[in-house]
Parts: sequence; structure tokens; C-alpha cells
Amino acid sequence: MNLLLLGPPGAGKGTQAKRLVAEYGWPQVSTGDMLREARSAGTPLGKEAASYMDAGELVPANVVIGVAKERLMGSDMAGGYVLDGFPRNLEQAEALDEFLTERGESLDLVVNIRVDPDVIVKRILGRRACSGPECGGDFNIYFNPPASEEVCDDCGGELVQRSDDNEETIRNRLEVYRRETEPLIEHYRPSGKVVDIDGAAEPDEVYAAIEAEIEKRRG
Ligand code: AP5
Repeated sequence: MNLLLLGPPGAGKGTQAKRLVAEYGWPQVSTGDMLREARSAGTPLGKEAASYMDAGELVPANVVIGVAKERLMGSDMAGGYVLDGFPRNLEQAEALDEFLTERGESLDLVVNIRVDPDVIVKRILGRRACSGPECGGDFNIYFNPPASEEVCDDCGGELVQRSDDNEETIRNRLEVYRRETEPLIEHYRPSGKVVDIDGAAEPDEVYAAIEAEIEKRRG
């Protein structure tokens, strides 16, 4: 199944995508993660993306579309995938539509995760990730607190905040979402594949709602 997770920053797209990967084995395609990896590796892509990301602006479409398409051509995509953070505006959505049509594919489900902006700011400010290379530990000092705000419970590595997780950048990310990404809900709505999910609920409840929609479609 090819699934797209839509929703504002902090809606829980990454959290839910990881659960879907664990449950169904569909790879997560997160352009945000790919860009952060490129930044850490110091590649030309990472260097180009850095200033846009720190300002909460979209990285130019010509860069992101190429990265996403290359990932979607991977041999591990044949059984389905979870798109997280791509597409992010109409230009990217149209490029994806064209790419899928050329390959005789389509999206099967578009999950629109809705959360109030004030909840989002608190969630994002509370997010802490483990810097350990193999760990992937993900905590939230308000909603899933580690024993210490600086140390990963899983591996003892240092917990860090993303460089774009400060209040000023979050506000801009929300504005960019409202202006550029939110219109995608109506872009996809006529396909009949959009479902609206309450993202303010507990992560387990959000996951159960998404899972129910998947199972309906799998028969
Ligand atoms: P990206 O990495 O995609 O960030 P984002 O869309 O802003 O989303 P987040 O990762 O902040 O939130 P999320 O919805 O995944 O929430 P999460 O599950 O982590 O993009 C970053 C930047 O890269 C962009 O600003 C842009 O510059 C660039 N970029 C990326 N893709 C691009 C593209 N296609 N085109 C152009 N530029 C692009 O949850 C957040 C926190 O809340 C966590 O701590 C989590 O534990 C907690 N949480 C989650 N769910 C719940 C819940 N139900 N209850 C309580 N807490 C919860």
C-alpha cells in the first residue's frame, strides 16, 4: 500500500510512520530525514538545504523532487511505502502524480493528521533525539520524558534538539505549512482517498485510527 501522511509540523507524521514501518514493513520516505542526513554528512545537498531548514522554509522543489524520486525508485519500494513530508506543495504533488502515473502506480491512502497549532508548538519544543549513531532514541520532555533531559534512556548518548525546533522557526514552519502544504488536502480530496484523523489523541489512539483505515482498504 502506498500511503501519504499529511499534517503540520509536529502533527506526529514521523512518529506514526515509524510505527507503520514496524507493523507493515513499508519503508518510510521522509525528505526531512534525508535532508538532515545530507547535512550531517556535509554533502552539497546538505549544504544547500541547511539555511532553508534553519529558517523553516521549504528547500527548493527542484532539489527535493529529485531526492524523493530517486528514493522511490529503490527496489525496497515494491511492496508499498509511507510518504512523510513529501510532497509539501502543489509543485511537488504534481511532480509526484506524474511520476506515479508514468509507473502505473497511485497513492492508496492519504492520512490528514489534524492538530491545533498551540499543541504543536509545545510538542516540537519538547522533542529530544538521541545523537548516538545507531540508536534513533526519540523522547519528548512533556509527553514521553526521558529520566534526564540530556541523556538517552536507551543508550546513554546525548539528547539533542533539532536546529529548527525553536519557537521562531516553528512559527514560520506553521505559516509555510498553512500557505504551501495545507492546500494539498483539497488537491487529493477528489480522489476519495483522504481520511482526516485527530492527531491530538494519544499516539496509540492515532495509530489505531490509521490502522483501521488501512485495514478497511486491504479488505
Ligand atoms: P521535516 O523533518 O519533514 O519536519 P516537519 O514536517 O516540520 O515535521 P516534524 O518532523 O517536525 O513533525 P512530525 O509531524 O514528523 O512529528 P513527530 O512525529 O516528530 O522537515 C524539516 C524541514 O526540512 C522543513 O522545514 C524543510 O525546510 C525541509 N523539508 C523537508 N521535506 C521537504 C520537502 N518535501 N520540500 C521542501 N523542504 C522540505 O512528533 C513531534 C513531537 O511530538 C515528538 O517529540 C513526538 O514524540 C511527539 N508526539 C507525536 N505524536 C504525539 C501525540 N499523539 N501526543 C503527544 N506527543 C506526540
